[in-house]
Amino acid sequence: MTDTTQGFDTLAVHAGYEPDPATGARQVPIYQSTAYVFRDADHAAKLFNLEEVGFIYSRLTNPTVGALANRVAALEGAAGGIACSSGHAAQIMALFPLMAPGRNIVASSRLYGGTITQFSQTIRRFGWSASFVDTDDLAAVEAAIDEDTRALFCETIANPGGYVTDLDALAEIATRHGIPLIVDNTTATPYLCRPIEHGATLVVHSATKYLTGNGTVTGGVVVDSGTFDWAASDKFPSLSEPEPAYHGTTFAALGPMAFTFHSIAVGLRDLGMTMNPQGAHYTLMGIETLGLRMERHIANARRVAEWLEGHDAVEAVTYAGLPSSPSYERAQRIVPKGAGALFTISLKGGYEACVKLVSALKLFSHVANLGDTRSLVIHPASTTHRQLEADQQIKAGAAPNVVRLSIGIETVEDIIADLEQALAQAGGA
Ligand SMILES: Cc1ncc(COP(=O)(O)O)c(C=O)c1O
Repeated sequence: MTDTTQGFDTLAVHAGYEPDPATGARQVPIYQSTAYVFRDADHAAKLFNLEEVGFIYSRLTNPTVGALANRVAALEGAAGGIACSSGHAAQIMALFPLMAPGRNIVASSRLYGGTITQFSQTIRRFGWSASFVDTDDLAAVEAAIDEDTRALFCETIANPGGYVTDLDALAEIATRHGIPLIVDNTTATPYLCRPIEHGATLVVHSATKYLTGNGTVTGGVVVDSGTFDWAASDKFPSLSEPEPAYHGTTFAALGPMAFTFHSIAVGLRDLGMTMNPQGAHYTLMGIETLGLRMERHIANARRVAEWLEGHDAVEAVTYAGLPSSPSYERAQRIVPKGAGALFTISLKGGYEACVKLVSALKLFSHVANLGDTRSLVIHPASTTHRQLEADQQIKAGAAPNVVRLSIGIETVEDIIADLEQALAQAGGA
């Protein structure tokens, strides 16, 4: 059993796994098995009835994948969680028990572009919808919530702009309306922020980023605080009423594990957005060094952002760790250890200078990813945020003259030297 009173770095190394009693294996083994032998017919029946916790079939549960979900839950201070095939899968899995045709979510306008597309286009095929608001305008958030709203959704540190969200204020509104706040904590990680401590109910991650940390895995995680009362209203019948998709089980009766068990027994069973054991193993190994890596990421990001702010070719730097940032004060409250390592710069030379910069960088990799040990760069308006309308791009912090930087853990002088030579080539001062 995980001792959740232990410190972050201890949990990052140990939580969610005891040495396998059969072999004593110290590292979490890759349980590459589709199915698990039942002791007898009674054991099988108890597992299917949720009377006993165990393993049936790896689309639902797998020991390696379960260790990952439990480790992230421990780091986030959650009651339970599930690991999924990607961050995008995690978002659908977070919404699935809450939503039904005709229901909606209210989401921040500052989100990863792929999430804006998922919410504004694709979920409509399920009969769900989303409205997008500036979450700094609390009156607008309040006004966007109606009787069909089933969740508020935001990112702790928004991709791409590094904007920090006032989680406490959104949680207060969500609580008042009897709906959960769902926070995508991908870019902050639980090392910098534990959204449940700010009132979030569900936390989602793209494990593809900092959790794994080296660009080897596509994965996602959803964790649940276990404190939301799903039966307090008639808004969440999948959890509060007998669930026809699981022979009439009322999941709310499972208390803090209601959401997690529904997500396994119905969500993973029927949607199948399962993480694979090998991916889970790599992510577990990545998490062991999460605290160490994040310390270096934020130290490097702060140095690079300060240097860029003084550069002639740079119009603005969005890093919330800079005292000049409008998010600076809030960052001290939400992410006091550091404002992450993802931010954007806008160049005086506009679109042309951005394209030249991206091509001239050598140490930085030009990729559609973030949260790697390596420094990464991308021009969001022509890539990750390309599917958005021009006004959506601007609201999301991805205007055409903006370049996104994900600062890695390399020697900081080398990162700055690379930016210096590339900015000289990009010109536009
Ligand atoms: C903040 C954020 N959330 C979610 C996702 C989606 O994650 P994945 O690519 O693992 O599906 C991304 C991807 O870039 C992201 O940046």
